[in-house]
Amino acid sequence: MPTSQDPAAGLIDNPYAVYERLREAAPVHRVAGTDGSSAWLVTRYDDVREALASPLLSVDKRHALPGSSKGLALPSALDANLLNMEAPDHTRIRRMVVRAFTSRRVEQLRTPMRETADRLLDALGTHGRTDLIAAYAAPLPITVICDLLGVPDEHRLDFRVWTDVLVAPDPSRPTAAKEAVVAMLGFFTQLLADKRKEPADDLLSDLIAVRDEGGRLTESNRLTDGDRLTEDELMSLAFLILFAGYENTTQLIGSAVLGLLTHPDQLATLRAHPEQLAAAVEEFSRHEGPALLAIRRFPTEDMTIGGVTVAAGETVLLSLAAANRDPRRFPDPDRLDLGRDTSGHLALGHGIHYCLGAPLARLETEIALSALLERLPDLALDADPAELRWRPSLRARGLLALPVTY
Ligand code: HEM
Repeated sequence: MPTSQDPAAGLIDNPYAVYERLREAAPVHRVAGTDGSSAWLVTRYDDVREALASPLLSVDKRHALPGSSKGLALPSALDANLLNMEAPDHTRIRRMVVRAFTSRRVEQLRTPMRETADRLLDALGTHGRTDLIAAYAAPLPITVICDLLGVPDEHRLDFRVWTDVLVAPDPSRPTAAKEAVVAMLGFFTQLLADKRKEPADDLLSDLIAVRDEGGRLTESNRLTDGDRLTEDELMSLAFLILFAGYENTTQLIGSAVLGLLTHPDQLATLRAHPEQLAAAVEEFSRHEGPALLAIRRFPTEDMTIGGVTVAAGETVLLSLAAANRDPRRFPDPDRLDLGRDTSGHLALGHGIHYCLGAPLARLETEIALSALLERLPDLALDADPAELRWRPSLRARGLLALPVTY
């Protein structure tokens, strides 16, 4: 059995070099967490894709053996979310919300999303320098998802701060993650209470109606007879949609802009052919996707992954980023190539937990890039790319800041 040899070394700045070594030498590799927990890290495309769809792998932490890595412990009011559930609960809850995120439904957000992007760009003026993550890549998705859910303006910044703490905990502040969780619980409790008092035309009010009256959201958001939500499930769903809706999209927009600014030939092609933007978003997702790892999974019985026996209850980490750079699937995988065939990339997952917000993530990133290219023709990187700092996280890939001039 392969053993761990500090696979985390160098993982933050350039995880892909480490993934490459693992993919070739130890594609199903035993790794140890700093807390002494253990997990299997899977890095080849075929193995990762097959595992994502395997009925033998469960995201339900109740299948975990003691000593297996389970990640941050959240209270049940945040943890009872889709990413930790299997059928029938997963099916019941996903069915309730999936219609709010269909391509058709999301297309209706195109104009408001573009208006938000334009407002943020108006605030930048026509010339200057800024950190594009703070000024644009973060506020755009948080505004879009908060508008959709119905989160009032004054709480949006708080949510961003807590999310940052959870995704990339600062080792010098060991209690910060716990404090952020407590603060988030308070935030969602108050938010739901306020919405119950004053429902509005937003997704959260609709979900509260499902919880309180029973029923399922339809395309037009009317309730139909059927399913129910518990209070924990309601709050956890709101938490997941807000968290997932903001966090990953911010990182993808940031990485995509960096990709363009460091590949002037491809930037020029895209400026000349903006109709290729949607396809480009797929390549940005494959090449520098924000979710390095899928959510932890646990075999419900002993199973084989890539020829290695993994025991029931051990933690399995599926590296979406390593799979997306597997040369067996994507030739010359480290090259950003906006013209390549990206079909089958795993940046948004695969199988029943495939990203619920995929149509929103795609359209939002496309709009963010097209507004930026149209409005800031002189956009340029204001730093040496090698000096840019990435979030200190083994799960979430994203720039801490993206200094630009325009
Ligand atoms: C670029 C942006 C995004 C990326 C890269 C991304 C990535 C992913 C991935 C990889 C998964 C599957 C995780 C797994 O199976 O382990 C997932 C699931 C999910 N995503 Fe996204 N996501 C993005 C944006 C969004 C947005 C905008 C929303 C808003 C609704 C969202 C909501 C969700 C939800 C609710 C799930 C859980 C689905 C389930 O378990 O059935 N995501 N996402």
